[in-house]
Parts: sequence; C-alpha cells; structure tokens
Amino acid sequence: MSKKAFGIDIGGSGIKGAPVDLSTGELAADRVRIATPQPSTPDAVADTVAELIRSFDLDADTPVGVTFPAVIQAGVALTAANVDKSWIGTDVDALLTERTGHDVFVVNDADAAGIAEMKFGAGRGTSGVVMVITLGTGVGSATFVDGTLVPNTELGHLLLHGDDAEHYMASSVREKEDLDWETWAGRLQEYFAHVDFLFSPTRIIVGGGVSKKHQKFLPLLDLNTEIVPAKLRNEAGIVGAAVMAHREEKALQKAERKSAEKAEKKASKKEQAERGAAK
Ligand code: BGC
Repeated sequence: MSKKAFGIDIGGSGIKGAPVDLSTGELAADRVRIATPQPSTPDAVADTVAELIRSFDLDADTPVGVTFPAVIQAGVALTAANVDKSWIGTDVDALLTERTGHDVFVVNDADAAGIAEMKFGAGRGTSGVVMVITLGTGVGSATFVDGTLVPNTELGHLLLHGDDAEHYMASSVREKEDLDWETWAGRLQEYFAHVDFLFSPTRIIVGGGVSKKHQKFLPLLDLNTEIVPAKLRNEAGIVGAAVMAHREEKALQKAERKSAEKAEKKASKKEQAERGAAK
C-alpha cells in the first residue's frame, strides 16, 4: 500500500488541502479549497483547517502537514509579514493539533514548496546550494545544502533600495502596480543578481502561482546561476507539507520507541539489582 499523509497550504486568500501519495508526490484525491477567513486570526484559521480536514475521511493516525507564511520554530510562528499580527508567538502546531485531533506539523510555506521541489520537482538530485524562491503575495525562500534544508531563510526580506525586496518585486506588486512583464523582469533581475552574488547557488528554482507564466519573464533574466521554473506549481505547498509531516511523524515514533526501550532497560536493571539485594 502506498504511504499517505495530508497536506494543507494556508495562504492569504485560500486554505487548500489534499491527501498526498508520498511515493509519487501526487495528490491522492481532489484538493478542497476554503476561503481564508478575514480577519485571519489564529482562532478563525484553526476552525477552517478543522473544517477542511473533516471534509475528508481521514484515518485518525494520518499525519497532517500545514504550511504557514511565517518564520516557524518548534511549531511557533515568530513573524507575520503578510498575515494577522496576532499569529506572532502562537504555537501553531499545538493549536491545530488540539483543534483537528490529528498530529499536525507546521512548516514555513516556502520551505514546504522547496521540500516538494527537491523530492519530486526541479531540484530532484541536485547537490550543492539550491534556492527555491516563491513569488506570490510575499516572497519566500527555501535553501538546501546537498539536499538538506536550512529552514526559515526569509530572503524575501533582503534589502533592495532600502526596503524589503518583496515590497518591490513580489508577484502581488506586479499586479498592484500593473507592471508589464519587461518592467517586472527588470526588478527580478536586480533581486536575483543580488541573491546570486551573495550565495552563488548551484541552481535557483522559481515557484509561486506566477511560475506557470515563466516564459514571460525567466528568459529576460541574465544571471551566472541556472534559473528554472518550479515543476509542482500550485501543489508544491500541499505536497511538501505532507512529506514533512510524514518525516516528522516517523522521527517522533523513533524517538518514542527509543525512550520506551530505555525505560524498559532501566526497569529491568532496577529489578535485577533489587533481586540481587534480596539475596
Ligand atoms: C514571509 C515568509 C513567507 C513568504 C511567502 C514572507 O513575507 O516573511 O515567511 O515564506 O512571505 O509567503
């Protein structure tokens, strides 16, 4: 039987989820999308995530991975650039685990997209430094060194012209300012040349919804590093979250097994010692 986990992508306008077949990286059922509640407070979003999970007939032990557009450390959101500020300091793992009744693991949205691209998409088999940059409402980044993720790199907040780069070259900025492709590509050129100069990556992978229109802007860029479009596009977050949840669940089970073994060993040593003392 193929391994499955459930992935959920929390975005500014929609919360999307589907079960994922972990051997192929494909969705195992049609995804469900529910509009993100406004204001997108932790409480309201947690209810929507629970509603989304309820619309699938999930086994209780199916791990659930959730993406969130913020720095995530030990399950806690530490920033909130494009979401309600009340998320800062929220233990997202604990909130969603309690509200959904499933083991939930939360990960930065760009890191999730990167995990999916490395396993099933444009980063597959690539060693060295690979950077996945997602262009959306904000700009996210996932950095891998020989396939290992360096979490929370937040390269959308590099300074460009004295401000966060994402305020200058996110896909949402292109839409808001109604920039033509050439003008926007000029901004991307500045940004990616900066990233290229700072990190000399082996490959840059460009993700986010706009990456399906990569023909309109990637050919206009001139960089030292190879720059390619993401392969999983819209589904990368869901797939990466599910992959991560499965990995974390396995690591947790292993740690639990180890600590149970240790406790058992201790108990039997104690028993042995007590028997010896009774002689
Ligand atoms: C956030 C990142 C996120 C990115 C894409 C940025 O504003 O700081 O955590 O990955 O947007 O959503």
